[in-house]
Amino acid sequence: MKIFFSVLGTRYSSPLGFTVSEPKLTEKLTLALPKGRVMGESLELLRRAGMNLSSSENGRTLKYDAGDALLIEMRNSDVPTYVELGVADAGIVGKDVLLEMSSNIYEPVDLGIAKCRLSLIRPVGESHVIRRVASKYPNITLDYLHGIGSSADVIKLSGNVELACLTGLADAVVDVVETGSTLKANRLEEVAVITESSARFVVNRAALKLKAGKLRPLIETLRELVKT
Ligand code: PRP
Repeated sequence: MKIFFSVLGTRYSSPLGFTVSEPKLTEKLTLALPKGRVMGESLELLRRAGMNLSSSENGRTLKYDAGDALLIEMRNSDVPTYVELGVADAGIVGKDVLLEMSSNIYEPVDLGIAKCRLSLIRPVGESHVIRRVASKYPNITLDYLHGIGSSADVIKLSGNVELACLTGLADAVVDVVETGSTLKANRLEEVAVITESSARFVVNRAALKLKAGKLRPLIETLRELVKT
C-alpha cells in the first residue's frame, strides 16, 4: 500500500495496487464531477452532448441518479482516484490535478473549460533565494524546482495556499491563477508560469471496454462539441 506523505522534501505519490471495481455492463454510466465553479459548465457540456441530466434537488446531494447517468460530486483532486479505481466510469477533472497525480486513466478530451495556469508566485518585488515553497501540487512543484536547479523544500497545503507567502510559512507558492484577482488582492505576483491547465474528460480503462457502447459515442460527441 502506498500512502500520501506530507513531510518536507518527500516525493509524493498516488495510490496504486488497490482493488479496482469491475464496471457492471447493464448499469448507467457513473460520472465523477468536481463541485464548485466547474460543476455547472460540466453539466452543460454533458447535456449538449445529448445526456439528459437533472441537477441535484437541494444542491447538497453527493450521489444521485440524474437520469442518463449516476452523478457523484467531489473535490476536483479526488476525481482521478474515483475514476482510476473504477467507482466512477468517467469524470471531469483539471489537467493540473492529472499532472500532479499521474493516474492511470484514459484522457480522451480536452473540454476547454476551467482554463487556468499553474504558476510560481511570490510577494511583489521579493527576490531573495527561495528555500521553501508551499503548494497543493507537491509533485509538480518538486519537478519544477529540480528543473530549475533549486533544492528548496516543498510544503503540502490544502487550500488558501497564497497565505503561506503572506505569513512567512514559505518564500513562494505554486498555485492556480485564473483571473489573477487573488494575486492582486494580496500583493503577490507570478514569477513563472509552470503549466497551462483546462478540464479534461477522463475515463476508467476497464469501463472504456465494458461500457464502450455508452462511452465511445459520448467521447466522440464531446470531441465534436469542443471543436466548435
Ligand atoms: C484557487 C487558487 C487561487 C484562486 C485563483 O482557489 O488556489 O487561490 O483560485 O483564482 P483567481 O486567479 O481567479 O483569483 P480556490 O478558490 O479554488 O480555493 P482554494 O484556495 O481553497 O484551493
